[in-house]
Amino acid sequence: MPEPRPLVIDTDPGIDDALALLLAVASPEVDLRLVTSVHGNVEVGQTTENARRVLHLAGRADVPVAAGARESLVYPQPERAGHVHGAGGLGGVELPPSPAPLDPRPAVVALADLLMTSVAPVTVAAIGPMTNLALLVTGFPEAAARIGRLVVMGGSAARGGNVTAAAEFNVWADPEAAQAVLSSTVPTVMVGLDVTLPTVLPAAGIARFAAAGPVGATAAAMLGQYVQHARSSYGTDGVVVHDALALTEAIAPGTLGTVRRDVVVDTTLGAGRGQTLVDRRSVSAAATAVDVAETVDSAAAVEFLIERLQRLDRR
Ligand code: BDR
Ligand code: CA
Repeated sequence: MPEPRPLVIDTDPGIDDALALLLAVASPEVDLRLVTSVHGNVEVGQTTENARRVLHLAGRADVPVAAGARESLVYPQPERAGHVHGAGGLGGVELPPSPAPLDPRPAVVALADLLMTSVAPVTVAAIGPMTNLALLVTGFPEAAARIGRLVVMGGSAARGGNVTAAAEFNVWADPEAAQAVLSSTVPTVMVGLDVTLPTVLPAAGIARFAAAGPVGATAAAMLGQYVQHARSSYGTDGVVVHDALALTEAIAPGTLGTVRRDVVVDTTLGAGRGQTLVDRRSVSAAATAVDVAETVDSAAAVEFLIERLQRLDRR
């Protein structure tokens, strides 16, 4: 097998963020070198703590966690998502604290340090609001230029929004940051609602990794409340684990079918705020174009996730 690719996850756990972290730890194709936290689903103090605890659950307390932005770049995020992820962010599950100390560096500094010192190109998976990434792109452009591949979970080309009629949560939470990132020349894959919403992890799949052992059972417990939310919001009998699909593309490039498109984020203060305006009239050759995920083999992606989560209890 080739050398594992260095990976950073920028995250706001968040139940599907927790699954994404577990998926990365379970995947030999990548070497998880750093986790940076960001505000989003809950406050950043909580997302930081959750990230540390999830890594400890997976036996990887050694992965450094650096705390990131506590607020969006310009306007405060109108509301958090405790009604989706539970007040603590992990579906009411209380995980044991990590014995490892918090990385003392601000997230953007830790990320820039890693990018400047890594010999191999680094993949960055951004699965929360893009505030930290925007600070990197604007404040540390030499480091941002060294990103091998940025995979973001966010936006929507043709499916509308999930938090407003127009906007997907991560972009809506900080539209100015998303615009800074998606208009940069960093090679970026946008994994939006077009591919995440059809990719439903069914209850029978959750039962398979729940039965594998304590880590799988804990992951399944976190999903209980999320199942309820998906049923009432999307009418699906299972969960849409947005962030885990983005991680699958980061781990196994080409999992999703992408097309290079010009993307602009609506940063106005009207009803469209946070919408990703994806120009689907043509394929773009611009340096700032984004590889927008438009097709997915949902059954294969779900099977990949279940099989990888089962591995965590078989090591
Ligand atoms: C995104 O919003 C968050 O609530 C999830 O963790 C995911 O990153 C989906 O719109
Ligand atoms: Ca998230």
